[in-house]
Amino acid sequence: MTAGPTGSAPSTKSSPITLPRRIVLTGFMGAGKTTVGRLLASSLGWEFIDVDAILEQRTGSTVANLFEQHGEAGFRRIESSALANALGRRNAVIALGGGVPEILTNRLLLEQTPGTTVVFLDAPFPVLFDRCMLQENAAVRPNLQDPAVAEQRFRQRHPLYRRIAHIRLLTEDQTSAETASDVLRRLATL
Ligand code: S3P
Repeated sequence: MTAGPTGSAPSTKSSPITLPRRIVLTGFMGAGKTTVGRLLASSLGWEFIDVDAILEQRTGSTVANLFEQHGEAGFRRIESSALANALGRRNAVIALGGGVPEILTNRLLLEQTPGTTVVFLDAPFPVLFDRCMLQENAAVRPNLQDPAVAEQRFRQRHPLYRRIAHIRLLTEDQTSAETASDVLRRLATL
């Protein structure tokens, strides 16, 4: 499948895809939201927005520092405002932080912002945890410090990811490029 020029629908052999205004990637830490999101944005000729990066730019502080200074509840408030801002963009692929769907207001924002397609990148917890441990920023993810607590969060969040998503993709055996292509394929079926 190849993407068309900016703003137009990618073409498949059978039919053109009607694109939403924005594609939102959700899932636990290690799901590949940022990597897949960049690939997807580049193949569509769209803007890529990482909600964690936006809130770091706006506050001039890192996610880890924000957790330390304001606690998780304070971080979530800043995150909600960054999410609302990102959902105002069109022709954008938006990667959420893994905890965004925990907050009811965020779920409502995602559900009620017209033209928003939410994609859940799913994989089993051990796969996600291992992926995170291989990443450079493994030490700075506040909610990954205790594996047992992280796994419990994964279990609590899983139904929320499923509930808000229009598309769920299993990424365990896939490269990020394959997952990005799958997102486009699945958009054609909506
Ligand atoms: C978090 C996930 C992180 C970041 C913060 C909290 C979480 O984003 O927002 O460390 O609670 O799952 P990524 O999912 O992009 O790592």
